Amino acid sequence: SGQTFPHAGRRKPIIGDLGVSSPRHPILDLLEWGADLGPIFEMRIFRQNFVFVSSAELTAELCDETRFCKALPPAITALRQYAGDGLFTAQNDEPNWQLAHELLMPAFTKSAMQSYHPIMLATTDELFDYWQRQSGPVDVTQSMTKLTMETLSRAAFSHDFGSFTSAQPHPFVGAMIRALETGRRKGGLRTAPGGSLLGRFIDRRNAGEQTYVDEMLDALIAERSGSADDHDLLGIMLNASHPETGERLSPLNIRYQILTFLVAGHETTSGALSFTLYYLSRNPHCLAEARREADEILGDDPDAVPTFEQIPKFRYIRRCLDEALRIWPTVPGFARAPREETMVGGKYPMRPEDWAVIVLGLVHRDPSVWDAPDVYDPDRFLPANVKKRPAHSYKPFGAGLRACIGRQFALHESVLVLARILHRYELSGDPDYELAVDERLTMVPRGFQLNLQPRRHPA
Ligand code: HEM
Repeated sequence: SGQTFPHAGRRKPIIGDLGVSSPRHPILDLLEWGADLGPIFEMRIFRQNFVFVSSAELTAELCDETRFCKALPPAITALRQYAGDGLFTAQNDEPNWQLAHELLMPAFTKSAMQSYHPIMLATTDELFDYWQRQSGPVDVTQSMTKLTMETLSRAAFSHDFGSFTSAQPHPFVGAMIRALETGRRKGGLRTAPGGSLLGRFIDRRNAGEQTYVDEMLDALIAERSGSADDHDLLGIMLNASHPETGERLSPLNIRYQILTFLVAGHETTSGALSFTLYYLSRNPHCLAEARREADEILGDDPDAVPTFEQIPKFRYIRRCLDEALRIWPTVPGFARAPREETMVGGKYPMRPEDWAVIVLGLVHRDPSVWDAPDVYDPDRFLPANVKKRPAHSYKPFGAGLRACIGRQFALHESVLVLARILHRYELSGDPDYELAVDERLTMVPRGFQLNLQPRRHPA
C-alpha cells in the first residue's frame, strides 16, 4: 500500500521497523509504545506493512460490517497450514465457512450450553481433586489450562486428554501449540530476504510435530465416523447436512475444525479465568463481593453446585470476568479490511487489500472512554455504565459475522468455575508477585500462584 501512517520512528533500510518489537512478545511491546503513536499507526517489517488501530473511535468504524469485514493478516494466514478453511482461518467467501457456521451455530446457542453444563461441573470436580492432591500453592494458569482443555475436548469430541492425571499437559497439547507458534513465526518471515527458504527449513523441522497432531486428530475422527451419535460437536460435524443443499463437511475440513476448536477454545478461556483470579486476589473488596454473591446463590454447603439456570445470576462474578478481559484481552486483537476503497477516520485511505489490526489492549484502555484505565473496577460493567459508553469500545470476542462462536461457551464455563472456586476456597496470592504475561497464541499470566484453603461455611 502507498499509505504511510505514523510509525515508531527508528525505521531502517530493508528491515524497516524490525527491532522496535521483539518477536517473542510483539503484543506486549505494542502495548508499551503503541499508545503514543496516535489512533492508527504502522510498523514495517521487511516488505510487509502492519497497520494498527488503538482508539475506540476508529475501532467503532472498523467494526461497522457494512463497510468492513474480517481480514487474515500474515500470522493468521500462516495458520492455514494447520487449520485450513476451518472457521477461524477461513476467508470470508470460502464456502466451507458458511457451511460450517450454519451447521455448528445450533451447538453454541445459550440453550445448547445446557448439555455442556454437567461436563463443566465434572471437569471442575476433577480440578478440585487435582488441587487436593497438591501441596503448597497452585500454578493458576497451568491449572486453568488443564481445566479448559478437558472441558473443551469432552464437550466437543467426548475425548478425555487425562490432563488431571499427569503433571505435564498431554503431549498432544504441546505439539499442537508448538506447531502453531512455528506457523505464526514463519508467517512473520514471509517477506524477509531468504524468508521462503527459512520457511521451508522450519517446515522440515516441524514436520514430525505436525504429523503427530494430524494423526491424532484423524484417529479421533475415524473412531467416530459411521456412528450416528450426534450429541457433541464432532457428532454434528460427522452427521449433519445442510437442510437445503444437503452438503456435508469433508473429513479434512472436520480435522481443521477440531484443531480450531481445541486451540481457540482452551487457552483463551484459561487466560480469562487466570487474569480474573489474579485481579480478585489483588482486590480484596472485589473478592469479598464476588464471594458474597457465590454464597448467596449457592448457600452454605461448600460442595453445592450451580444449576444451569443459576449461571446468569452470578452478575458480579461476570463483571469481574468482563473487567479482566478488558485489561487483558486474551485474544489480543483481530484484523479488519474495508469492503471497498474508503477513508478511515476521514483521512486515512484504505483499499480492500489493506487491513488493520485492532489492538484490544490499547482500545480497552483508551483514555477517552475509560477513566483510570489501568484500575481494575468490575463496576464499569454495571448496565448503567455500559449504556453510557460508545458502541464497540469493548470487543474481547471480536466483531460481526466472524465474531467468536464460542463466546457463550467461554462465559458459561468461566462464571461456573469462578463461582465454584470462590464458594469453596479462601484464596490468596503471593503479595510479592508482579504480574508477568506470557504471549503465546494468546495472552496468559506467567508464574501466578494461589494459596487455596478450603473454607468452613457457617453450619
Ligand atoms: C473467533 C475471542 C473462546 C471458538 C474469535 C475472535 C475472537 C475470539 C476475538 C474473532 C477473531 C477474528 O476476528 O479474527 C475469544 C475469547 C475467548 C474465546 C477472548 C475466551 C475468553 C472461544 C471458545 C471457542 C471459540 C470457548 C470454542 C468452543 C472460536 C471460533 C472462532 C472464534 C471457532 C472463529 C469464528 C468464525 O470466524 O466463524 N474468538 N474466544 N472461542 N472463536 Fe473465540
